[in-house]
Amino acid sequence: MAPIISVNNLDKVYGTGRKALNSVNLDIMAGEIFALLGPNGAGKTTLIGTICGLVNPTSGSITVGGHDIVRDYRAARSLIGLVPQELHTDAFESVWDTVTFSRGLFGKPKNPAHIEKVLRSLSLWERKDSKIMTLSGGMKRRVMIAKALSHEPQVLFLDEPTAGVDVELRKGMWEVVRELQQSGVTIILTTHYIEEAEEMADRVGVINNGELVLVEEKAALMRKLGKKQLKLHLAEPLPAVPPELANYDLALSADGLSLVYTYDTRAEHTGITSLLGDVRAAGIRFNDLDTSQSSLEEIFVSLLRA
Ligand SMILES: Nc1ncnc2c1ncn2[C@@H]1O[C@H](COP(=O)(O)OP(=O)(O)OP(=O)(O)O)[C@@H](O)[C@H]1O
Ligand SMILES: [Mg+2]
Repeated sequence: MAPIISVNNLDKVYGTGRKALNSVNLDIMAGEIFALLGPNGAGKTTLIGTICGLVNPTSGSITVGGHDIVRDYRAARSLIGLVPQELHTDAFESVWDTVTFSRGLFGKPKNPAHIEKVLRSLSLWERKDSKIMTLSGGMKRRVMIAKALSHEPQVLFLDEPTAGVDVELRKGMWEVVRELQQSGVTIILTTHYIEEAEEMADRVGVINNGELVLVEEKAALMRKLGKKQLKLHLAEPLPAVPPELANYDLALSADGLSLVYTYDTRAEHTGITSLLGDVRAAGIRFNDLDTSQSSLEEIFVSLLRA
């Protein structure tokens, strides 16, 4: 299947001389949720801006739905919905009018049924006649999404959709994004929140200093780079990690009741079998054991440190 977005050898050098993108290559497949993860200033907004035709590429090429974003700008842009990082709303307009107007900007014929569907799916229908200035921050953000969906785009860019949004609302946004994916929209979102990428994405790209340092299936990424922890719940508290077990990467909990062993899932031998043998030999009894996978957060931090 041909990618819906194809970015080839993209460079962006701003007028200030700042190189914001460095030889970026990226294919986005139709129907996926792709999370672009990176620290402040990494180049996330610049990459989205170039794909959407708001920032001129210095060199390289981009196609959206097979249309070159420079030569076939209108055709490419009509496939895209963008929810920008900076919210700018028309404070005095009603929700209905502002979303309807956005559709008109793309030269699409009026379609009240579509606008109604979008507003209902974003739980904004009850507020359709409200002036934007009377809405809460989370609702305003949903209005921005409604505007971006007004012209029935195939691809939706969400630049930090949940920055400054509380946990409850963030979960609501995730729901909305999932429903959009089910309706066939391809979604690219940028985020600082690793948990967001972990929760939402099919694939994750990590960008740092203008370079796309990694693109992976989320699950594979977690498997490949992840560390796991094995926790032994002890029958009796220990005062310290016993010297017989000094060769293992072990930590004792503050209450002395659990021993945590960290191991690398990439290693040929996890060391668990020998650890359990040595624990038994040291006369330490445990009631239970469980394992947990390290989070994408730990993976991310270790990547950027490398
Ligand atoms: N219009 C501009 N002119 C000059 N430099 C710019 C411009 N826009 C962005 N930059 C610079 O390009 C680099 C990438 O910025 P960009 O906004 O793409 O990062 P980002 O990953 O979106 O960051 P954030 O997480 O803070 O939104 C930064 O060093 C930034 O200062
Ligand atoms: Mg940004």
